[in-house]
Amino acid sequence: MTRAIRSSVMTSPFAARYDSGAVRPAPGRRQALIPMPSPRVLLPAGLIEARVHELAAAIDRDVPTPLHVIGVLTGAFVFVADLVRALRGPLTVDFIAASSYAGTSTSGQVRLLQDTTLPLDGRDVLLVEDIVDTGLTLQALQDHLRARAPRSLRTVALLDKPSRRRAGVRLDYVGFTIPDVFVVGYGLDYEGRYRNLPGVAELADE
Ligand code: PRP
Repeated sequence: MTRAIRSSVMTSPFAARYDSGAVRPAPGRRQALIPMPSPRVLLPAGLIEARVHELAAAIDRDVPTPLHVIGVLTGAFVFVADLVRALRGPLTVDFIAASSYAGTSTSGQVRLLQDTTLPLDGRDVLLVEDIVDTGLTLQALQDHLRARAPRSLRTVALLDKPSRRRAGVRLDYVGFTIPDVFVVGYGLDYEGRYRNLPGVAELADE
């Protein structure tokens, strides 16, 4: 049995902002800028990097190897890339894709867009999520994976927003517990944008 490890953050009114990333017209074209909000930095890249190494050390201590890592696309692709390079034990990597969001709100209906490719029976699986909000996506994925008879199933989420929870899900490792704000960056998007921001930022109406 592993214990959830957590770190909390609060938003600061003095935090820096990323560039809004407004879509700029091609040179020579008379085309209006598409306004996009400027994300306010909540978790700088350096803070995330340090926390990812702490999580990896805890997972290395707890979980038998070889570990089978399953990342939840699309949002977790950055976290998976950093986490697996911080883990020391032998491991394999696969991905699963699910979606329930349109804009900033969940439909409540989780769609499995792409299943894993490798068998799970007898494997020690680590499911890697970028964020757990209502918990509906994670609940559906945990149920889906448990039915495939892994030897063990643990879950790590970089971000946890417990105030929005609608499903009782188990998280073994949590990077940061955050307040109820819409976040982008480090893999997380708004309408497909901002996934490439190096840190996590709050996207608020301006
Ligand atoms: C996001 C995120 C989680 C899920 C969490 O995925 O990556 O998988 O929402 O929300 P929940 O706890 O309320 O279910 P999204 O559906 O936005 O797809 P994406 O990762 O492709 O952006």
